[in-house]
Amino acid sequence: MSKKMFYNLLAVLMLASLVLSACGAPAAPAATQAPAKKTYTYADMTLCYPQLGAESDWRTANTASFKETAQKLGVKLIFSDAQQKQENQISAIRSCIQQGVNVIALPPVVETGWDAVLQEAKDANIPVIVVDRSVTADPSLYAAHIGSDMVIEGKRSAEEFNKLLPNGGNILELSGTTGSGAAVGRAKGFREALNPNIKIIDSQTGNFTRAEGKPVMEAFLKKYAGQIDGVFFHNDDMAIGAVEAIKAAGLKPGDLKMVSIDGTRGGFQLMIDGWLQADVECNPLLGPQTMELALKLMNGEAITKEVLTNESVFYPDKAAELLPTRQY
Ligand code: AHR
Repeated sequence: MSKKMFYNLLAVLMLASLVLSACGAPAAPAATQAPAKKTYTYADMTLCYPQLGAESDWRTANTASFKETAQKLGVKLIFSDAQQKQENQISAIRSCIQQGVNVIALPPVVETGWDAVLQEAKDANIPVIVVDRSVTADPSLYAAHIGSDMVIEGKRSAEEFNKLLPNGGNILELSGTTGSGAAVGRAKGFREALNPNIKIIDSQTGNFTRAEGKPVMEAFLKKYAGQIDGVFFHNDDMAIGAVEAIKAAGLKPGDLKMVSIDGTRGGFQLMIDGWLQADVECNPLLGPQTMELALKLMNGEAITKEVLTNESVFYPDKAAELLPTRQY
């Protein structure tokens, strides 16, 4: 083919293609495409938080962590206070299910009795994140648990007594809310790690409050006058209440060896004042982690079922230096 013929043929082909596209010639059939999957953001999230109560400084900090994080991220938070009553938490969860929230974060006041309401949330396709204390329900009924290892906290407390009372002694236990994951786990870990020469001569609940810690300690001091070497408190608020009773009984800092759990500012002050020899950390600032996990659940992303908080033990020697840095 001559050069001229080649260019003529090319021109004809180009013209034909222009004419065809101008006439709306059908395009090649598109492959069938699934509708684009929506990626949710915090602004799409309604999170239900049926808080168990306001019994301690720890709890106040935990509530603030959820409220502040929700505000910062633009999450709509449905918050309620169950006043330490499981039936109030169950009603709040049912109300959240009816409102069609995206995720429920549940800090359970006690360990048992959640199966029915967790099943209701599951049936409504609303994932539940158990926060702080544990539940005994089948793990298939909730998406994840975020919080402290309460058994380890109990063990750490016992290890402090093993150091404080190397020759043994008699100690008392002011326990948290009966049946709560925190009280059950701490009591278990404590007994597992306590040296056999240290005897727990009595254990009573102070329900995690200052108001109830004080009369329990008053009764202990009357009943066991002269026989007590130490006291283990399941939280700082009960220790603060009990110290009022101990002072009123005329005892001085150091007369009794005392270990508590939480690491609140109040606990730090007790260490500075010489009453407490160690404070085992329990971190309440769980809002950011919980909301991050809730968003992953909304987007169908892989999550870790058990998220444990990294914690340590605080001592009097650093208490004054650390107190101004404490967030709760
Ligand atoms: O479940 C955590 C515990 O609950 C904290 O130790 C205590 O202060 C709170 O009331």
